[in-house]
Amino acid sequence: MTRHRIRTAVGHVAFDSVGTGEPLVLLHGFPHDRSLWAPQLAQPVPGVRMFAPDLPGFGESSPLAEATVERWADWLATLFDHLALERVMLGGLSMGGYLCFAFWRRHARRVRALVLADTRAGADDQEGKAKRTAMQDLAREQGAGAVAERMIAGMVGKSTREGRPDVVATLDAMMRRARVPAIVDALAVLRERPDSTMTLATIDVPTLIVCGEEDALTPARESEAMHAAIRGSRLELIPRAGHASNLEDPATFNRLLSSFASATIRA
Ligand code: MLT
Repeated sequence: MTRHRIRTAVGHVAFDSVGTGEPLVLLHGFPHDRSLWAPQLAQPVPGVRMFAPDLPGFGESSPLAEATVERWADWLATLFDHLALERVMLGGLSMGGYLCFAFWRRHARRVRALVLADTRAGADDQEGKAKRTAMQDLAREQGAGAVAERMIAGMVGKSTREGRPDVVATLDAMMRRARVPAIVDALAVLRERPDSTMTLATIDVPTLIVCGEEDALTPARESEAMHAAIRGSRLELIPRAGHASNLEDPATFNRLLSSFASATIRA
C-alpha cells in the first residue's frame, strides 16, 4: 500500500492506494478517515487498483468551504481528473454511500459500478436534522472525544461490541482523531443531503449492496429497500456484523468485494 498526499485544484487530498488495474474508490463514513478501509487495502484484488481517500477535512485532506454533498461529489470528480481516472467502481460506507448517490446524480458517466455498504437512500427527518445540529454543538463544546463516545455503541454490532474489543478500539481511536471543523462540516453535509430514494431507479450499473445484519444505524431493511429499487443489484447481509461491517468481518466483506470487482471488470 502506498500513502499519498497531493495538491489539487480543491486543496490537499490524501489517499492510500494499492494494486494495479481498474480503479475502485472506497469512501469512508462519519466521522472516519481513510484508515477505515485498511483491511480492504490489505487484500488487493487482481486487476484492480484500490483507492481510499480522506474526505474533505478528515485525515490529511484539506477542508472544503461551504460543504454540501454536491460540493463533495464535485471535489471527488476533481480528484479523479487529477488522477486521470475516467471511470471508476465507486464504493462507500454509510456517509460514503450518501456521497455515492450524489456522485451518481452529478457524474454518472464516471461510475462503472457501485458498492453501497451499510447505508440508506433516505434523507434525515426533522428529528434527525435536529440531532445533527445538537451533535455539532457537542463537537464544538466538548470535542471529538464526546462525539466518539456518543457514537461508538451504534458503530458496531452487538457481536463485535461483546467479543471484539480490538475493533471497537480501532474505530473509537479513528473517531477521536477527527478534527472538530471536519465533524461540524460533515454533520451539515449529512443534515442537508437530499433524499436519494428517487435516484435508485436511475442506477443502471452493477451494484453490490452490503450490510451487517446487526447494523442499528442503517438497518438491513434499508439495504433491502435499495436492493428492491436498484435493478439487477446484488444484496449481501453479513451475520454477526454491524454498521462497520467491513472492519467487523473483513474476511467476508473482502470476499464479496473481490468477487464483485472481479466480475465487473470481466464483464
Ligand atoms: C456514518 O457512519 O457515516 C454515519 O453514521 C452516517 C449517519 O449518521 O447517517
